[in-house]
Amino acid sequence: MRILLRILLLAFFSAFCVHGATIEDDEAPFEPGKEICTRCNCALHETKPNYNHFLIDCSAKDMHNVPTEWPSIDGSPDIIIVASFSGNEINTLHRLPQADYSMHFSCRHCELKVIEVDAFLDVPKILRLDLSWNHLTGETLRSDTFRGRFSTKSYEPIALEELNLSHNQIRSLERKIFEHLPRLKTLSLAHNPHLDLSYMSLSAIPDEIFQQKPKLRELLLQGNDFHAVPESLSQVGKSLKSLYIGVNPIEELTEQSFLGLTNLVHLNVSFMPNLVEVREHTFSELKHLEMLMCSDNPQMTKFDVESLRSLKSLRELHLSNCSLKTLNIEVKGKDEQQDDFPKLRLLKLESNPWHCDCGLLSALQELEHHGRKGFYSDDRARCATPYDLSGTLLPDLFKEPLCSMEIRKTPRIPIYEPASFLRPKSILLSIFSVIAVVAIGLAVGCTIVCIKKKLKQSDFGFTTPVRYTTVRESFSTTTSVA
Ligand SMILES: *[C@@H]1O[C@H](CO)[C@@H](O)[C@H](O)[C@H]1NC(C)=O
Ligand SMILES: *[C@@H]1O[C@H](CO)[C@@H](O)[C@H](O)[C@H]1NC(C)=O
Ligand SMILES: *[C@@H]1O[C@H](CO)[C@@H](O)[C@H](O)[C@H]1NC(C)=O
Repeated sequence: MRILLRILLLAFFSAFCVHGATIEDDEAPFEPGKEICTRCNCALHETKPNYNHFLIDCSAKDMHNVPTEWPSIDGSPDIIIVASFSGNEINTLHRLPQADYSMHFSCRHCELKVIEVDAFLDVPKILRLDLSWNHLTGETLRSDTFRGRFSTKSYEPIALEELNLSHNQIRSLERKIFEHLPRLKTLSLAHNPHLDLSYMSLSAIPDEIFQQKPKLRELLLQGNDFHAVPESLSQVGKSLKSLYIGVNPIEELTEQSFLGLTNLVHLNVSFMPNLVEVREHTFSELKHLEMLMCSDNPQMTKFDVESLRSLKSLRELHLSNCSLKTLNIEVKGKDEQQDDFPKLRLLKLESNPWHCDCGLLSALQELEHHGRKGFYSDDRARCATPYDLSGTLLPDLFKEPLCSMEIRKTPRIPIYEPASFLRPKSILLSIFSVIAVVAIGLAVGCTIVCIKKKLKQSDFGFTTPVRYTTVRESFSTTTSVA
């Protein structure tokens, strides 16, 4: 991704008067100063009373150095020298000749590689410096470069308010680079490839930096010592569009982390060695978020997908190379979630130990709009567990009957659980067994009674003296017995 960096920094306001001895130069590798106005175009522009410009236009004059002297200027001390040396092949910017006027100095397209230490020592009232379109690197820019004259104990500051270092090769800036620039209001570092304002061992950002609410659009803070997202960022929340805060020892991101950054479009929270958890509601406020990079966080086991649900602009979500096993998401029905994740088109999930179950599958379905068109799903993400699914590509999970089998496994809310014998099933069972026992009892009783009856009947048949024989016979027997 091409980084377009435009940083406007506001530094503290403190006025200093500059007074001190001029230090003499011995070296003279400069263009001779006397004839400068014969080579260049010099002109006094009296635009407003007490606001006059003395223009020294030396652009594209095939010069290899700045002159040794400024032309003599007759006029009030309010004159501003506007000097342009743009379009000359200068390579090394030596110390500018001494002037006690305010100054705008530009040297664009000068093929500058080096700026001499103390280059602006003799022009302490320089207000604007445009060094865009050169080959300057972070290493050639040091705090010494911008210091003023030495007085008694320390170096005086210079008056610089605007510094344009766009279109250079700056990757990083020295920590104390602006030590001598207390009035710096505008710093442009646009179009420096891979610019890092980062890796400066910062552990806090002083609130003063953002106090005037400059239109800070992009801020690179990766590679520092932040243990939390600096709170002072909320002061530039209205303008900030991109924030890079990866490679910091942050352990968790919470609801507080991005408070007030309502216009953020790109957020990069990657490569954080200590990040364990992204808590609930972390991203709820970021209504304009389009790209969220949260990958390569080796300890991250929890990530709050839920708070992304309502972000109407989110297009890309990168979660690869973390320790995620599942995505915590509230599963809604197909009809309920029409407006959730409406623009999400890219989901990067590879290199995580995914546990492929119904929960994960449902989360994927929510995120991918139940197969709505235009979704680019990552091919390389695979299940790690359970054993029989390990190695399965996540997109292939949609073919697995994961949820149909486990649908009853929805976790029951652990409220009052009746004793086992009081559960409806047990009660019914008990009633049935009682009925069954009674029924069996009755049946057994009946049969016994019946059998008894039958037996009794057959007993009479055999034992009663009254037999259904002839009366005579019975008589004969009784008489015989008698
Ligand atoms: C810095 O310089 C670039 C290119 O020369 C220009 O486009 C840009 O507007 C300047 N920025 C500021 C803040 O002056
Ligand atoms: C996100 O930040 C990390 C760490 O600084 C960096 O390596 C990566 O390239 C960034 N990603 C994007 C898309 O900017
Ligand atoms: C995963 O992240 C670690 C650091 O967090 C990094 O060293 C490693 O290169 C990454 N692996 C891949 C495949 O990107």
